[in-house]
Parts: sequence; C-alpha cells; structure tokens
Amino acid sequence: MIPPFTFPTDFLWGAATSAYQIEGSPLADGAGLSNWHRFASMPHTIAYNDTGAGACDHYHRFREDIQWMQIVGLRAYRFSFAWSRLFPEGRGQVNSKGLTFYQTLLDALESAKIIPCVTLHHWDMPAALEDKGGWAFPDASYWFSEYAHKVFRLFRDRIQYWITINEPGVIVQEGYLHGNHPPGERSPEKAWRAVRSLCYGHGLAVQAFRADGQGSIGWAVHLEPHYPATDAPQDRFSAEKKDIWTNKQFLDPILLGRYPETLIHFYGKNHPPFSDEESRIIASPIDFIGINYYRRVTVVADSHNPPFFTREIYQNAAEYTEMKWEVYPEGLTRCLLWVKQRYGDIPLFITENGAAFDDPAPEEECILDVHRIRYLRSHLQAAHDALRQGVSLKGYFVWSLLDNFEWTFGFSKRFGLIAVDFHTQKRTLKASGRWYRHIIDTQGKGLWE
Ligand code: FCB
Repeated sequence: MIPPFTFPTDFLWGAATSAYQIEGSPLADGAGLSNWHRFASMPHTIAYNDTGAGACDHYHRFREDIQWMQIVGLRAYRFSFAWSRLFPEGRGQVNSKGLTFYQTLLDALESAKIIPCVTLHHWDMPAALEDKGGWAFPDASYWFSEYAHKVFRLFRDRIQYWITINEPGVIVQEGYLHGNHPPGERSPEKAWRAVRSLCYGHGLAVQAFRADGQGSIGWAVHLEPHYPATDAPQDRFSAEKKDIWTNKQFLDPILLGRYPETLIHFYGKNHPPFSDEESRIIASPIDFIGINYYRRVTVVADSHNPPFFTREIYQNAAEYTEMKWEVYPEGLTRCLLWVKQRYGDIPLFITENGAAFDDPAPEEECILDVHRIRYLRSHLQAAHDALRQGVSLKGYFVWSLLDNFEWTFGFSKRFGLIAVDFHTQKRTLKASGRWYRHIIDTQGKGLWE
C-alpha cells in the first residue's frame, strides 16, 4: 500500500531528452545524415528555419549537462542514441567516434550515479534508410532490429532500461499521414505500412534483446484521452475513433497480440492484416510500458477534415500551454488506470511529461517559471493518485532536462527545467529545476507542502 504523501523508495526520478533535440553537431566525427537533419535543413519546414545543427551543443557540453543533472538531483536520465551517429548509413560497421561519444557519456553518468535509460529510436532515422522507403518499406523492421541487436551487444552490461521506439503513433501520424515530419508523406497506404514496420521492428528487437541483451526493455507510447465536445452521436463516435487510433493502435498489438479491428476500416483497402506469425513476434513479452502524457483532446465530428474527419475544440475556461495543449492532470490518472485495467499489471514509467511556457526573463540567475511548477506538481499528484489505486508506476521523467529543439517548432517552445541561451549556450536553472530537486529529495512529500 502506498502511503498518502510519498512515493516508493525505489521510484525512479528522472528527466528526458532526445538526440536530435539536444546534441547538435549532427554530422560530426563521421556521423551520417539523418532524416530529421535533412528535413529541418529544407527552407520553411521548421519555425524560423531553425535546425538541430547547434541545438544545445550537448555533443560537446555533456559533462556540464551532467553537472546540471546533479544539481537537479536526478536519479535517472532518459536520452536517445542517434542511429546515424552510430551507423552512418543505418547498417554496416559501427562509427567508432560515435560509439566513443556514447560510451564516454555513459561513463560520466555512471560516475555521477545517474541511471541511464536509452531510447533506440526517437524519430531520427538515417537518411540513407529513408531513401530506401523509410518505415513504409517492409524491410525497415529488419533494419531496425539489426541496429538494435548490434547496440545491445555493444552496450550490453551498461544500460539497465531500454526503450525500443519513442511514440510510434507520432511517427505515423506526422510523418506519413499529415506530412509535417519527415518523410513528409500524406498517404494512408504508407502510413499503414509504417504501422506494421514499427510494430514488427519492435517485436524483432525485443527478441534480439532476449537473446543478447541485459536489463529490461519496453516501448514508449503517447497516450491522450479523447473526449467528445457534445453528447451528439457523431461527436462521441469521433472521440472513440481518435481514442482507438491514438491509444490502442500500438498497445493492443504489443500487449494483446491483435490489431484493433475498427482501424482496419480507417486504412480501408490498404490494410493487409498482420499474419499470425507477425502478431506473435510483435507481442513478444516486454518488461514495462513507457507512457508519454501531456494533455487531453476534445473533439467534434468534421466531415471536411480528412483523414480522421474530426476536429479539436479549444475550451475557453481551460488552461493551455504554449503548445496549445490543454492542462488536464486528471487525464494522466485516467490513462494509467486504463492501461492497468485493459492490459494487466505491467510495470509503467511516465517517460515524458512536462509543459512549454513562455518563461520570464532571468532575475538574479533564476527564472521564475511558476506555470511549469504548477503543471508538474499537479501531474505528479495525479500520478500518485494512480499509484494509490494500485498502478505499478515505477518512475517519472520530466520532459525536458533542457530547453531544446522542439521539432517543427524549432527553439520557440521551451520545455526545460534548465534554460538554454541558444546564442551563448549558457544554461540557467529555472525555479522548476530547483523545485524538482526538492520533490526528489523529499521522495515526493514536497508536492503537498
Ligand atoms: C513528444 C516527443 C518529445 C517532445 C515532446 C514535447 O511527443 O516525444 O520529443 O517533442 O513531445
């Protein structure tokens, strides 16, 4: 039983980042071009034509960043490997300098006693593989599992927590349906193929891990409860449809061994079902689920808005972050309980949760980001609520350690516990970073002070 105002003693308190969003120097030391760097380098794809060329210069400043992690008191750090830094063309020989970079980073984390949690694929795929068809090409499953297998062998005894793929739903939706992310496709047929490669690639990677890896492995999905804006049947139907697409599409195959039936109609004739053998591999047992939670979504039916024929509605009374995401902590409790009820008592991590706000200017070396503190406090309380109701929640990672390259929004959206001046690379601790340290030090009790 979890006591009222505290978290389990082995609860993993962390913060998260991803390679392309913070590292910078994407082509240094023999690294290959990634799809994201190529996409961001094209004019008008990213706000203000920002790219990840410099980002937080973490590639050179990781030692300083680990000192910041210590200042925040982190017990764990979630980050990703850049596939094309390790394997410039995606396959073949490892790039020794890329390998050294991650080994040195892991050494430094070990000295700082910070537990690493590594994501193998956080959206940046080697451009050479995207040129061959990317996730829409059936062989992508094998490219990914081959990469994963090599990485498991290279880093075998160094990493306790592995995540195969980050938010497969966003890769499919933004990359293959809406065309906002690379490869910029708007094709339900390719989207369906990507769904299949991501699920099957994950399953094959898990099998490789069981053969040759150490530690525990899971995957990270984003969950968003969908609510109908009215009681009208078409709005209720819209919410249900989007809910299945977002929340069940990737968890059902992995945890129940079946793809949600209703989505077969969404992809229509483009949908060749998974074979029994594929379904079996896709559902290879995993050790935990990573949940990225930011908001809830309220929808109405909209016959003019393909491919889902729904539209998001903004509520006047609600609070929104700078991403125009509704602040809705109850949704986090709901998601955690829903996962337990639908999929059983599998260990869960909140692998991302956080908020972008326009932070005030620093005063005496501190940034008073009260909105972010309020957001994090209410979501951690919501997580605690789920713990008290019996969910096996094992840890929580704030998105993000640093202000960083927020994909198509470039540097305009700031999520960090630590501010980054992207001209000088100066870091400044925000009040939320100091507050989070207190929460970690008090094992969560500080949330109720
Ligand atoms: C998630 C991504 C992460 C970051 C946050 C704000 O969808 O996984 O990289 O961009 O959103």
